[in-house]
Amino acid sequence: MEERIRTITERWGYEEIRTPTFERAELFTLKSGQEILKEMYEFEDKSGRHLALRPELTAPVIRLYLNALKMSPKPTKVYYFGNCFRYEEPQKARYREFWQFGTEIIGTDTAEAQAELIALAFTILTALGIEAELHVGHVGLIREVLREKPLTEEEINTVMRLIDKDQRDAVIALLTERNVTRQDIDKLLYLIDLTGRDALQEALDRELITAASAAVRELEQLLEILGYYGIPYILNLGIARGLDYYTGMVFEIYEAGGKLGAQNQLCGGGSYRLAALFGGDDVPSTGFAFGFDRLAEIYTVPAAALTRQRVIVVPVRRDPADREVVREAIRIASLLRAFVPTHIDLMTRSISAQLKYANALSSSFAVMVGTDELREGVVTLRNLSTGEQERLSVEACVARIKNYCNLFELADKPAYKPEVREEA
Ligand code: HAM
Repeated sequence: MEERIRTITERWGYEEIRTPTFERAELFTLKSGQEILKEMYEFEDKSGRHLALRPELTAPVIRLYLNALKMSPKPTKVYYFGNCFRYEEPQKARYREFWQFGTEIIGTDTAEAQAELIALAFTILTALGIEAELHVGHVGLIREVLREKPLTEEEINTVMRLIDKDQRDAVIALLTERNVTRQDIDKLLYLIDLTGRDALQEALDRELITAASAAVRELEQLLEILGYYGIPYILNLGIARGLDYYTGMVFEIYEAGGKLGAQNQLCGGGSYRLAALFGGDDVPSTGFAFGFDRLAEIYTVPAAALTRQRVIVVPVRRDPADREVVREAIRIASLLRAFVPTHIDLMTRSISAQLKYANALSSSFAVMVGTDELREGVVTLRNLSTGEQERLSVEACVARIKNYCNLFELADKPAYKPEVREEA
């Protein structure tokens, strides 16, 4: 699964980046405040530095960008695959250590960049054969509404996090306490419930948002380009995202087959600004991350990948000191290792013990190298599933195994093109 995702992502022009497992805790509290510490593994090291195991990779990637990649051509397109740590209540598909596969475009957040990322995420899921539902929104819509109310930026972030967790009672309580009228609260709740093709129009008609809003224009442009990719999406004005740094478009992809239960969000992302906060210039960026464990939970391994080929080369020694067959066995193993996992005896075992080992590893072939055969320049190729065997030249034997492996590899090639479907 990892190999497929990497291949597709690299074909879209992204390059791998790696960051350390831990960072200064400040990197994550700068934007989100001290509250976020409760959700992290944080500690002091022997010199009293306040550190944290990374809960995600976007902030570390932007830090590394500012340290080392500022001069790279723009836009800078990177991807990562790394473990993350969150101090959460573990449940099905929610772990304290989990893996993310993510990408970031640093240096632009145009509609084109956003659409490319959404299309890439959707293409990956299509290639993995995972049934998914893509929801697209814009945090600017809700934030603009909240900014008109007597709320501090901190309180707005709190409301966004509560909306993300679907804690409506807490939203109502907080806004009521800040003297927001019940009518305005109801308008907000109505807005975050709006989904579907006409959501934007309805929000405008009901005067929940204003046509002059920059968010509306941005969202319209994005949806137009998403249409060019032929990606089926659902407009969802209620996406708030759990992290505070998003400034524009946001999207989430959910598993649609009902296999994951409550934790069915496979992917989340959007446009954000972090560079200025970390002391750099203000660099617009866009990114997403897949929850790799969640993908693994629902991914069906293709049959061809399950029958991955293995070969064992068996030196048939006349006595333990027989070096000639070992030399030839190593030569043949080197030829095979160019394209197929190959084992060779490491314990001076008997032929039957070597074949038993081959069976335990579900090897497809054994290549037997004996003294008499060595003299004639041939080996014995045994098909371990049928028991058939034949004597062949070394070249013919290697070619035969290669042919066989190619057949399986062809059956295992993922489709890279997104399926073009009608918009949802
Ligand atoms: P996030 O939505 O917090 O976004 O995490 C991304 C994905 O990681 C989620 O959609 C989910 O599949 C997975 N995930 C999150 N927490 C857990 C957990 N406890 N156990 C298993 N899987 C989990 C981010 O982290 C952003 N950095 C994404 C991003 C990149 N935005 C812009 N660029």
